[in-house]
Amino acid sequence: MDTHTTHDALEDPRNADIRIYINGALKHRSEAMVSVYDSGFMLGDGMWEGLRLYDGVWAFLDDHMDRFYNSCKAVSLDVGMDRAALFDALETTRRANDMHTDVHCRLMLTRGVKVRPFQHPALSRSGPTLVILMEHSKPVDRLHDKGIRLATVPQVRGLPMSQDAKYNSHSKLNCVIACLQAEQAGADEALMLDPHGFVNTTNACNFFIVRKGEVWTSTGDYCMNGVTRQKVIDLCRANGIPVREKNYSLYEAIGADEAFLTGTFGAQTPVASIDGKPIGDGTRPVTARIQALYKALIRDHVAAHST
Ligand SMILES: Cc1ncc(COP(=O)(O)O)c(C=O)c1O
Repeated sequence: MDTHTTHDALEDPRNADIRIYINGALKHRSEAMVSVYDSGFMLGDGMWEGLRLYDGVWAFLDDHMDRFYNSCKAVSLDVGMDRAALFDALETTRRANDMHTDVHCRLMLTRGVKVRPFQHPALSRSGPTLVILMEHSKPVDRLHDKGIRLATVPQVRGLPMSQDAKYNSHSKLNCVIACLQAEQAGADEALMLDPHGFVNTTNACNFFIVRKGEVWTSTGDYCMNGVTRQKVIDLCRANGIPVREKNYSLYEAIGADEAFLTGTFGAQTPVASIDGKPIGDGTRPVTARIQALYKALIRDHVAAHST
C-alpha cells in the first residue's frame, strides 16, 4: 500500500553522517547508543520535544521549553540543566552537524540508567539521559496537494488521570496502537475520539475542520497541547477567521468543507478523506489562508530572533 504520514520527508543523504548528542558527547549515529537499562528504553519513562529550525532559528522555542519543563516537573524528572544550558546543548549539536535550516530535532530526556531492571523511579540513580537528535528534514510537497487519508479507530484518547495526553512522553503506545489500526484500515493516520465520542486528535497531530468559513478544533481536553495548534488558533483570532474550540462529532467532521492537521514538522497538512469519504470538494481556501499566515508568522519570528 502507498502509505503516507504527516512526517514524510525528502530523503537526504547527509543524514547518514549526523552526530547525536548523548549526555554531552557527540556520537556518530552508528555509535549513538543508550543502555538497555535506560528508563526510556525499559519503561518509556521520559519526555521529548519535536523542534524545527528555520534559517538558524528554533521556531517557538520558548513554547516548546515551557511544555517540556512543565511535563518534566509534573513527573518529577529533573532536567539537570536550566533553559540556557539546554539551549547551548541544542546549539552545540546543531553546529557539530553544520545545520542551518529545514532541520527537525527530537530532544529526549529520560530518567536515566537503572541499577536493576524494575519500574521504581528510585532505581535510576545516575541522573537523566539527554539525547538530541537532529536530521535534515523537509516535508514532502505532494502531501500538501494530495492530503492525508484518516481512519477513525477504536483506540481513544484517555482521561487525564490515566495518562494525560499533554505529556509528550516516550511512551506513545496509545498513539502507536491507533496508528496501526488506521494502517490496517487502509489509511495513513488515525483520527481518535475522546472518551465521550467527540472528535479529538490524530495519533501524531492536532486536528481541525472548517465548516462554512469557521475553523473548529476540539476543546483541547484529551489531546496534546500542540504549539502549532495554539499558533493556528491565535492566527485565526488575529486575522478575523472565526475559530471555535468545541466538542463536535464525526457527523460534523465528515461533513466539513475542509480539514487539516497541525504539528511542528508539517505545519498544516490537509486531510483528503476520513474513512474513505472525501472531505469537501478538494478546494481548501481557508486551509491555504492559514498556511500562508503561518508561513508569514515563521518569517517574522525568524527575523525577530536571528542573531
Ligand atoms: C500526539 C501529538 N499530537 C500533536 C502534536 C503536535 O504538537 P506540536 O504542534 O507542538 O508539534 C504532537 C507533537 O509532538 C504529538 O505527539
